[in-house]
Amino acid sequence: MSEYVEIFEVGPRDGLQNEAGEIPVADKIALVDRLSEAGFRRIEVASFVSPKWVPQMADSAEVLAGIARADGIRYAALTPNMRGYEAALAAGADEIAIFGSASEGFSKANINATIDESLERFRPVVEAARHIDLPVRGYVSCVTDCPYDGPVDPGQVARVADRLFAMGCYEISLGDTLGYGTPDSIARMLLAVRNVVPAGRLAGHYHDTRGRALDNIDASLSLGLRVFDAAVGGLGGCPYAPGAAGNVATEAVARHLADLGYETGLDAGVLAQAAGMARAMRREAA
Ligand code: HMG
Ligand code: MG
Repeated sequence: MSEYVEIFEVGPRDGLQNEAGEIPVADKIALVDRLSEAGFRRIEVASFVSPKWVPQMADSAEVLAGIARADGIRYAALTPNMRGYEAALAAGADEIAIFGSASEGFSKANINATIDESLERFRPVVEAARHIDLPVRGYVSCVTDCPYDGPVDPGQVARVADRLFAMGCYEISLGDTLGYGTPDSIARMLLAVRNVVPAGRLAGHYHDTRGRALDNIDASLSLGLRVFDAAVGGLGGCPYAPGAAGNVATEAVARHLADLGYETGLDAGVLAQAAGMARAMRREAA
């Protein structure tokens, strides 16, 4: 039996949040429904943030209401504060994610709060979710480089990851938001983070701006990570990280992991269809 590595599909959220034009909700639902046939265990489909900040995600409740939920898949949503948490709960999200940053500049630009303020905002969200056994994932952005502050100290990533984990996040997803990470900088960062959060509770979330994401996944595999976020068709970016490209493409990660002998449980034919849909949505929105 080959070893399982999970790809966490984030395209319908991280991908579509960054598209310039308006994408019809029916198209988003159709994409999620196709992805639900591919073999994922978790798909991030929604984000309950301010519609003034990210208008592309304003229809998140409609997406969650419209999709055909498949057994065995958790449909996830971002929740920056209690208001987002309550909206995600009402819409029926199966798990939520809070999202902090290792750098002050990105924290301010992305969620209008210092790192400390953001962690205080997240605390009641995690407490409320844990009270009803709703899984909470924690993101740390800018784990190697920040568009505002430059290179990021691995110790600072470890401190934020530690605080999110201690708060009750079941997994910490480490975001190379800009896609400037290299196998060296990713490994230095992971060695620091692994001292405070076990590798089995970490995920790699790598954008592919400079084409290094697959190399960064290799470096992460050798340090014990077995979960990677990816977006079908390589969709996306982040509206508050100027110059950042999309997440590494799911179909490329699945192929790469298969070549390395890992099992992902994903159907390459379905992924190719979903990637085609994602690329068509991007073209229509442009
Ligand atoms: P703020 O302005 O500091 O907060 O924004 P506020 O409480 O003063 O509220 C401002 C307005 O937003 C008010 O409306 C609130 O009602 C409304 P107004 O009175 O102006 O009409 N509001 C909300 N509306 C809907 N849902 C909510 C909500 N909260 C407040 N939950 C806030 C703070 C966090 C809300 C804002 O900064 C925001 O929405 N930021 C979102 C940024 C974002 O979504 N970024 C992309 C996702 S992160 C990412 O992509 C990185 C990741 O992929 C990992 C990686 O790659 O590194 C995860
Ligand atoms: Mg991202």
